Amino acid sequence: MGKQSTYLAAAVKDGSFQMTEFIGRQEIIAETRRSLELTRLLTLVGPGGIGKSRLAIETAAEMASRFRHGVYFIPLAPVPTADSVVQAFAEEIGLSLATNEEPLEQLLDFLRGKQQLLVVAILIEKGHREKASPSG
Ligand SMILES: Nc1ncnc2c1ncn2[C@@H]1O[C@H](COP(=O)(O)OP(=O)(O)O)[C@@H](O)[C@H]1O
Ligand SMILES: [Mg+2]
Repeated sequence: MGKQSTYLAAAVKDGSFQMTEFIGRQEIIAETRRSLELTRLLTLVGPGGIGKSRLAIETAAEMASRFRHGVYFIPLAPVPTADSVVQAFAEEIGLSLATNEEPLEQLLDFLRGKQQLLVVAILIEKGHREKASPSG
């Protein structure tokens, strides 16, 4: 199993990738590729269902050979906590976290010097702030 199947498997499980034909969007894929040559952090923003995850996965598949240490898809829970974010990254990229060290430090040490493309899918729900607020 290649690296590509690693992230595709995670994306299939999450429902962001389906074995259907990818339609259109060639201009924005080209733009996304160009942007990734210039920046290390690129954010796609839009309403749910508009095609962000699928576009990111399609672009990642096209660019996979440029990333020596692979491409990974990291689906985050709808309302992630800081700890669960580090845990989700670690799980997907195959890092086992030691209990006696700061998880974020371990993640950063692991990623430092790696040529990896991490496709992170995050969902921000309407009303999340209000629900999360302790004042109710
Ligand atoms: N360009 C496309 N061609 C074919 N199917 C698409 C395309 N863009 C999105 N889809 C499909 O539409 C649905 C929603 O897309 P998704 O990428 O999950 O949206 P988002 O991440 O913005 O919520 C998925 O089933 C996805 O496979
Ligand atoms: Mg998505």
